[in-house]
Amino acid sequence: MMKPQIAFALLLTFSSIAFASNKPDEEAFLRCLLKHSDDTTISSIIYTPKNSTFSSVLDFYIQNSRYLNPETPKPKVILTPTTESHIQTAIYCGKKHNLQIRVRSGGHDFAGSSYISEVPFFVLDMFNFRSISVDVKSRTAWVGAGATLGETYYSIYEKNSSLGFPAGYWPTVCIGGHISGGGYGALTREYGLAADHVIDARIIDVNGAILDRASMGEDLFWAIRGGIGANFVVILSYKITLVDVPENVTSFSVSRTLEQNAIQLVHKWQYVAPKLPKGLTISLLFSSNSSTQTGKRTIIATFVSVYRGGVDELLSIIGANFPELGLTKADCKEMLWIQYFPFHIGHSIDNVKEFLTSRVPPRKPYFTAKADFAEDPISEKGLEKILNNLFQVGPLLGQMEWTIFRGGVMDTIPKSEIPFPYRGRLLIMFEVVYWSANDTSDVIQSRIDWLRKLHRDIGDYVPKNPRAAYADYRDLDLGVNNVIGETSIEQARKWGAAYFDDNFDRLLKVKTQVDPDNYFKNEQSFPTLSSYSPTSEKSSV
Ligand SMILES: Cc1cc2nc3c(=O)[nH]c(=O)nc-3n(C[C@H](O)[C@H](O)[C@H](O)COP(=O)(O)OP(=O)(O)OC[C@H]3O[C@@H](n4cnc5c(N)ncnc54)[C@H](O)[C@@H]3O)c2cc1C
Ligand SMILES: *[C@@H]1O[C@H](CO)[C@@H](O)[C@H](O)[C@H]1NC(C)=O
Ligand SMILES: *[C@@H]1O[C@H](CO)[C@@H](O)[C@H](O)[C@H]1NC(C)=O
Ligand SMILES: *[C@@H]1O[C@H](CO)[C@@H](O)[C@H](O)[C@H]1NC(C)=O
Ligand SMILES: *[C@@H]1O[C@H](CO)[C@@H](O)[C@H](O)[C@H]1NC(C)=O
Ligand SMILES: *[C@@H]1O[C@H](CO)[C@@H](O)[C@H](O)[C@H]1NC(C)=O
Repeated sequence: MMKPQIAFALLLTFSSIAFASNKPDEEAFLRCLLKHSDDTTISSIIYTPKNSTFSSVLDFYIQNSRYLNPETPKPKVILTPTTESHIQTAIYCGKKHNLQIRVRSGGHDFAGSSYISEVPFFVLDMFNFRSISVDVKSRTAWVGAGATLGETYYSIYEKNSSLGFPAGYWPTVCIGGHISGGGYGALTREYGLAADHVIDARIIDVNGAILDRASMGEDLFWAIRGGIGANFVVILSYKITLVDVPENVTSFSVSRTLEQNAIQLVHKWQYVAPKLPKGLTISLLFSSNSSTQTGKRTIIATFVSVYRGGVDELLSIIGANFPELGLTKADCKEMLWIQYFPFHIGHSIDNVKEFLTSRVPPRKPYFTAKADFAEDPISEKGLEKILNNLFQVGPLLGQMEWTIFRGGVMDTIPKSEIPFPYRGRLLIMFEVVYWSANDTSDVIQSRIDWLRKLHRDIGDYVPKNPRAAYADYRDLDLGVNNVIGETSIEQARKWGAAYFDDNFDRLLKVKTQVDPDNYFKNEQSFPTLSSYSPTSEKSSV
């Protein structure tokens, strides 16, 4: 009886001493920044809640409106570095005064992990690191972490309209988060993920060292191409290789309701789409709305497609492989390759430069979302069960987007090439639910519960052990680090294996090598291997 009590009392004493000496001290952090910066203008990049522009700077890159409220934990300080030395100073002072760092590029993290923390923290806001330099001759580009996908696409297009980069759809998503988690989009079957096209990078490590591929070594270079940069370092920029795209493409977006055999068409799509030419991408969007024909609620499957070729060729490919779709010439629209980005999300394609280069996103919804990866085609019965969920929330509030991964270069790249492991899976499924500004907490909770139920239903049709998730679609339901104290490897494996499968163990080794004291922490960062060793477990009891 006595022993555990003594142990507990001792633990309390030790942990309160430890806590006192490591107490986060933002005043000391601020003094440290001013003292250790060789740049006298550093104060112009420091925002505290006392600065009148603090909230507008914080909110500008909060991309999920769910987190735009007073209850969301706020940083003590926001830094908007303009030089690399600002970042070195920030890391040095953050470590010294125990203020956690959250690095933000575009702020699209589903869980707001780049600007929310439960412990005292500062945001390192990377939007000034947005330079893009395209070299058409070598077909490469250096792209800053804070550059958006849209800016990247447009810069490449301006230099050579027949070159592109295989990455995601949303124009304001930034390079820093996107590439460091993988990055898929319309070119994935043909060319792979964004992270597959990284050939060099510049980073700043926990000791403030500025490193490139040669100096960081292949292990860390591997980890920051899909393992989430913020778990290891600060990413400054990536060097990417460009790919061939035709200047002109043909697109269509055709919707089919349940009454128009949506289930049968989706079923067939799963078999057909992986076998189509790699230059033909057909994604599927699902929602529920009232039918324009009957006026009654129905499920709508929208086939959104881009063919990197002409309309006649496209019609003959679809006619030969997927005649049930009933595609006509009138459904098809010839456009520039870069106009497919607005087209894909149902936006006007008229002012594509504005669409791609605006820093204001097309929408800033209230949402929560998840990912799944199917291995085998889902039966018609299974599709019905999954899709019927869309009737359980209001029109257009629940949505899914399915993208084919199989039948192209994704099948041939080894699963351990980068941390992203789910090569050759049939498809990735994105599941989302929305709400609006005026919804009560009960309504919001019911939407979140709805998404979890949808995810459980999908679970019957996708591989388990691990139940796969996508690192760029952060999902805190998978598990999180303890807010205070160490997290065991077994606990971290819950999300680590879901995102990275067999690559998780190598990520742990890299984490231990590059950030042994685990300064780069977030809800789903990785513990270091030493915290797992039996000796350290003993000494902490
Ligand atoms: C509307 C929308 C559409 C999307 N569409 C796609 C899509 O088509 N395809 C796809 O693959 N994904 C898509 N995503 C997911 C997107 O790729 C990820 O959310 C990505 O991480 C966002 O990067 P960010 O820099 O904009 O976000 P942030 O929130 O700034 O960063 C995300 C994560 O990366 C870390 N990070 C950011 N910058 C750095 C840095 N410089 N150094 C170290 N760590 C850093 C952050 O700390 C955080 O953990 C979409 C997301 C949204 C919200
Ligand atoms: C914030 O306020 C402090 C104190 O007035 C000032 O020194 C600093 O320059 C301000 N930051 C910005 C970005 O204006
Ligand atoms: C643009 O890129 C295409 C495709 O790689 C190439 O054939 C062409 O020569 C390039 N044009 C210029 C001007 O570099
Ligand atoms: C693309 O289409 C435009 C407009 O129809 C045309 O002027 C241009 O020549 C086309 N480009 C190529 C490479 O065929
Ligand atoms: C949904 O249905 C409503 C009512 O019929 C209609 O006004 C609206 O355009 C539909 N939206 C979509 C995206 O189909
Ligand atoms: C929310 O409520 C405000 C004030 O009543 C109203 O002006 C606004 O239109 C509502 N917004 C939505 C999305 O319902």
